[in-house]
Amino acid sequence: MKKIFLIGFMGSGKSSVGKLLAEKLGKEFIDLDEYIVEKAGMSIPEIFDRYGEKFFRKLEKEALREITEDSRDAVVATGGGVVEDPENCEILRKHVTFHLQAPWDEIWKRISKDSNRPLVGRGKEAVKSLYEKREKMYRETGRVINTAEMTVEEIAEKIKSIVTGLEEGGK
Ligand code: S3P
Repeated sequence: MKKIFLIGFMGSGKSSVGKLLAEKLGKEFIDLDEYIVEKAGMSIPEIFDRYGEKFFRKLEKEALREITEDSRDAVVATGGGVVEDPENCEILRKHVTFHLQAPWDEIWKRISKDSNRPLVGRGKEAVKSLYEKREKMYRETGRVINTAEMTVEEIAEKIKSIVTGLEEGGK
């Protein structure tokens, strides 16, 4: 098993869980948003401000392709909107993908004051409907990990044990 992908809404813990999981599994950690920022030479808010969300989605789609096509053994944390593109979901379904599910109230507490997430600026109700719309997409794309009341350590351990089981089962 070469790559493990983490999907889920903004603030669901993909990056922190991803880093720890990568360490536990002895794999490299790749953050899709950081990959995009490095390639574009601009921050995410700058990309949204100057070129718009559509352009960001194009960069995100290219980045996902590049990452899935290389042969590195890695844990990859994606951005929350990666599932907006059905072709991205198709790629993710061919890999081992986990959906970090977290309750809305918890998510909003974590992201509401974050200026590095341009979509948060659209306001609580708009972000909540995005959350509700995307939940189904995440569910259909990855194995659900219910993270409510769990620490980053516990979530990473849970995924690690599933991955180990899959490897032993020869997947
Ligand atoms: C987005 C989520 C962000 C980032 C961008 C758009 C989204 O990543 O890709 O701001 O559409 O949900 P995180 O999920 O890591 O915050």
